[in-house]
Amino acid sequence: MNTIENLKKKIKNIVENYDEDLIRGYITGDGPIPCDILFVGEAPGKTEVEQGKAFVGTAGKNFEKHLNSIGLSRENIRVTNTCYFRPIKIKEGKTGKTSISNRPPKISEIELFREILDEEIKLVHPKIIITLGNVPLRRLTNFKSIGEYHGTLHFNQELSSYIFPMYHPSSLTYNRSEEFNLMYKEDWNKLKKALENL
Ligand code: URA
Repeated sequence: MNTIENLKKKIKNIVENYDEDLIRGYITGDGPIPCDILFVGEAPGKTEVEQGKAFVGTAGKNFEKHLNSIGLSRENIRVTNTCYFRPIKIKEGKTGKTSISNRPPKISEIELFREILDEEIKLVHPKIIITLGNVPLRRLTNFKSIGEYHGTLHFNQELSSYIFPMYHPSSLTYNRSEEFNLMYKEDWNKLKKALENL
């Protein structure tokens, strides 16, 4: 049986041996084990690797606000990612100044952590897994698009858990329309109802 300490060692080992593309730091999941409610994001960003904790940057603030709005707090849930390191790219500006930014994880990078995420899910043994955005949705289910499945509850035999797809909280930064905002809030209310009936 794996332990979370074992998984942390495996993650560290993967990170230390990775040289296919640029990465900067890594984190492991955050929250109690076991736990009924597991959120799975994409990959950590700058703030997350600095603070060693998932969803504490800009997207994390949005996430926590909505989590609290349905009566949950970070202590009641576990949060992890599909890719445990921070994928980065370095851009050179017109003046020659370089800047580092996040990039989405590649399929091959997600695959590096396949066993780790599967093992983490087994250890957490959640009743419900909430996927945040397309990356964890495609990794954990056969569903292709968050636009089609967000806000709906499905039982996943393979994972022995319910799956509830949601948009990634950073989508609020990209889509500032009132309509999207309302729909996003509505999805959190649907999650609240799903949790009441688990
Ligand atoms: N976005 C994610 O998908 N995961 C994090 O941990 C932070 C931001």
